[in-house]
Amino acid sequence: MERFGNLRDLRVEQNSGAIVITINRPKFLNALNKEVLEELSNVTDIIVEGFPGIPVIITGEGSRAFVAGADIGQMAEMSPDEAREFSRFGQGVFSKLEGIPTVTIAAVNGYALGGGNELALACNIRIASRNAKFGQPEVGLGIIPGFGGTQRLPRIVGKSNALDLICTGRVIDAQEAFRIGLVHKVVDEGKALEEALSYAALLQKNSPFALCRAKEAIAGFGSPDPGEGMEAEAELFNRCFDYPDQKEGMKAFMEKRRPVFKQIPQ
Ligand code: COA
Repeated sequence: MERFGNLRDLRVEQNSGAIVITINRPKFLNALNKEVLEELSNVTDIIVEGFPGIPVIITGEGSRAFVAGADIGQMAEMSPDEAREFSRFGQGVFSKLEGIPTVTIAAVNGYALGGGNELALACNIRIASRNAKFGQPEVGLGIIPGFGGTQRLPRIVGKSNALDLICTGRVIDAQEAFRIGLVHKVVDEGKALEEALSYAALLQKNSPFALCRAKEAIAGFGSPDPGEGMEAEAELFNRCFDYPDQKEGMKAFMEKRRPVFKQIPQ
C-alpha cells in the first residue's frame, strides 16, 4: 500500500478490510534484522495514526517460516552494549505493536522461533497451521530471549511452561502449543492466513470503538491493585456511552436489524 512507502522486507496489504503485514525475507526464514524491525516500527506508527480500528494480521512469507528468530548473523558480531540496545529496540517495537488500539492476529505458517515466537506473543491472537513450530531456542546460542519473551511468555502460558520452554530451548509443535494455551486455533497447513482473515471478519461485525476500549480495559489486567483495573473499566464503559455506536447498537437490537457502526476517524 502506497501509504506505507517503499518497504524492502515487509509487505503491507489491505485484505477484506484487515491490514496484513507479511515479513518478507524467505531466504533467511524471515529472520528479524535491525532493518526489518525498523520497517515494522514505521509501519506500526502509520497503522496507529492512519488505520485505527482496523484488525491487523502478521504473517511470514512462504510456508516454511513465520519468523525463525532474530538474525543470528547480525547478532554474532554485536558487543554487549550493542546487544542491550538491540534488545531495547526490539522490545520497543513489539510493545508498540502490542499497543495497536485494535486486535492483532499472528497467522503462524511455519517456524516461530526466538524473536519469531516473541513477535507472535506481542499479537493478541495466534492462529497456527498444523506444521507450525514454536520455541525459544536462545539458550542454545548462549543468550536469552531479548524481545520481551521472558515477560510475555509466562503471562500467556504460565511461569512453569515458560521456564520449561525457555530453559530447554525445545521446539514444540502446533498441537502442544495449543494445549498449553500458546495458540488459539490450529488449522490445516497453508490455511493460517485464511483463518486469520475469517477471525478479522468476526471482529469487524462489532463496534470498532467498543472493541478498542475492550482491548484497553483488558490491558489493565494484572496490575497489583485490582481496583485500578475495575476503575479503568468503569471509565471506558462510560466512554462507550458517550459514542454513537452505543445508541446504534442498542437501537438495532430493539429494531431487530444489524447495527451500522462508525469507522474510527483517522
Ligand atoms: N537468523 C539468520 N538466518 C537464519 C535464521 C536466523 N534466526 N534462521 C534461519 N536462517 C537462515 C539460515 O542460515 C539459512 O541460510 P543459508 O541458506 O544462507 O544457509 C536459511 O535461513 C535456511 O535455514 P536452514 O537452517 O538451512 O533451514 P532448515 O530447514 O535446515 O532449519 C531452522 C530451519 C529454523 C530449524 C534453522 O534455520 C534454525 O535453527 N534457525 C535458527 C533458529 C533460532 O535459533 N532462532 C532464535 C534466534 S535468537
